[in-house]
Amino acid sequence: MTEILPLRLGINIDHVATIRNARGGNAPDPVRAALLAIEAGADGITAHLREDRRHIRDEDMARLNLEITKPLNFEMAATEEMKAIALRVKPHAVCLVPEKRQERTTEGGLDIVGQREHLAPYIAELTKAGIRVSLFIEADAGPIEMAKKLGAPVIELHTGAYCEALEHGDRTKVDREFARLDTGAALAGRLGLEVHAGHGLDFYSAEQVAMLPEVRELNIGHFLVGEGFFIGLPLAIRQMRAAMDRGRAKARART
Ligand code: PXP
Repeated sequence: MTEILPLRLGINIDHVATIRNARGGNAPDPVRAALLAIEAGADGITAHLREDRRHIRDEDMARLNLEITKPLNFEMAATEEMKAIALRVKPHAVCLVPEKRQERTTEGGLDIVGQREHLAPYIAELTKAGIRVSLFIEADAGPIEMAKKLGAPVIELHTGAYCEALEHGDRTKVDREFARLDTGAALAGRLGLEVHAGHGLDFYSAEQVAMLPEVRELNIGHFLVGEGFFIGLPLAIRQMRAAMDRGRAKARART
């Protein structure tokens, strides 16, 4: 019988910075959003420092690390510049993601099979500095097994294709993508990897993904920041927590 462990909620505050940067000033402050998210029950804060600094800036990363009381998950591309910043900021965790300048958001998981030679020493250096490394990958056997070989303790499964299928109402694809997440999470669990998931999640999809017993953390940003406009960020976070609890309760009922 699989033990169903608690599910953490990490809040990604990138899009608060996107709105701030639209005017070039200091408001709305992403660090204030992070503090509010923690007050509302977030277990951690995620922020992506992109090469082009389109949302989060270097000083946001430094302030987040100093001011928040919950773990900081620093999302970044596996570049030398970002490694130097991570080694200076020393966040609780680093999540390595692919990054293309032209993309609107992180499209697809990191190609850790193709980049294994580059990633092996990169992951080792961050790990040696006491940073927990997570790899943002597709839920397929190849990258999951490679994550284990590379020595990363955590993987984050890309839920984008599943969420997109839901949005398009494509039932066949929804079932296929959910099965892919389910199989991938189970394999990662057997390999002893800690499993996180994220990208494109809303109340419904988060509840579904929460039913996968191996998943220990969801990282959610865009939907919650958007929902914040209508009902306020704290209430949106509490409602997300309730959706995740419903999913977890269903998972428990199945065992
Ligand atoms: N996890 C990772 C690794 C991501 O790159 C993102 C998007 O920045 C998220 C989670 C959050 O995705 P969303 O903003 O769509 O909830």
